[in-house]
Amino acid sequence: MTQFIDGFGRAHRDLRVSLTDKCNLRCTYCMPSEHMQWLPNEQTLTADELLRIVAVACANGINDVRLTGGEPLIRHDIVEIVERIASLPSAPSVAMTTNGIRLAAHVNELVAAGLSRINISLDTLDAQRFVRLTRRNELHAVIAGIEAAMASGIRPIKLNAVLLRGLNDDEAPLLLNWAIERGLELRFIEEMPLSVGGSWSRSDYITTQDIIESLTPVFELLPLPRDVHSPAFAMQVGGTDATVGFISSISQPFCGGCDRLRLTADGQFRNCLFGSDEWDLRGLLRSGADDQALLGRMMDSVRAKKAGHGTDNLSLLQPSRSMNAIGG
Ligand code: 5AD
Ligand code: SF4
Repeated sequence: MTQFIDGFGRAHRDLRVSLTDKCNLRCTYCMPSEHMQWLPNEQTLTADELLRIVAVACANGINDVRLTGGEPLIRHDIVEIVERIASLPSAPSVAMTTNGIRLAAHVNELVAAGLSRINISLDTLDAQRFVRLTRRNELHAVIAGIEAAMASGIRPIKLNAVLLRGLNDDEAPLLLNWAIERGLELRFIEEMPLSVGGSWSRSDYITTQDIIESLTPVFELLPLPRDVHSPAFAMQVGGTDATVGFISSISQPFCGGCDRLRLTADGQFRNCLFGSDEWDLRGLLRSGADDQALLGRMMDSVRAKKAGHGTDNLSLLQPSRSMNAIGG
């Protein structure tokens, strides 16, 4: 039974851990092209420190740990981190969200270390669009990473796609076809206003409804029962075994079923992606606090969790830092 129950009765079992704010891409919806204020190295948690925190969380009811960034594969100790989390006494499942660039080099050792699920970002299949979206010429490396993941045997492999108006919003059928051919589960994520200083606009972002409308001329989409804890809802693609997912964070927020907590790369505990509330675990840890004190501060954060992020007010709720620093 999880200790992490908030004032609205939501039981939290999922912890997202950002391992670094750094990344080898510069996706426009995530960060500016330059002048990023990176976290100083000494503020980033070491593997030992993050293991202490994750161990306390997993001893008290977290059973799914997802490693994110930034780009988690940038960390040289990533295999050790996966291995140590997967070996905790409660044997949590360890998942990763990655941009895929370094996956071909590492996926086999990650799977051997206990990685159980993987999500790879893929917004476009066009190399030039990829450069416009991410400001780096790396589509080939991402594709090689996806192929290596398929060969490694890890399942499920999910692909995350964010569509941007005028850039790749015509690509939904192409992406879905590509995913179905390879037995991968594609999920479309609505663009969220998470890039500090970014260009998100309520009237301009591509909604789940827009995407469904662009898919239905090509695919038959059949409704499936919804899992309340999953931010995605899935539809069956007629005539195939495949499903396609939609994460409608903005148009249909799913806060009521949220079971997620977050740890930032610099050791701040968060109860929501949005807003600016953080609970400092790094300082507590470095002052010599025991596990009980760490748990106490995590519980403070859980108890303070609000009912929802209030999407009518998203401009006010934009996080105090960009997505790469919080973790997706
Ligand atoms: N809106 C929606 N999704 C985002 N991601 C990063 N920034 C945003 C944003 N502003 C996605 C990435 C990746 C996952 C970690 O989060 O594309 O798939
Ligand atoms: Fe890197 Fe992911 Fe941000 Fe893109 S969205 S810049 S891959 S952290």
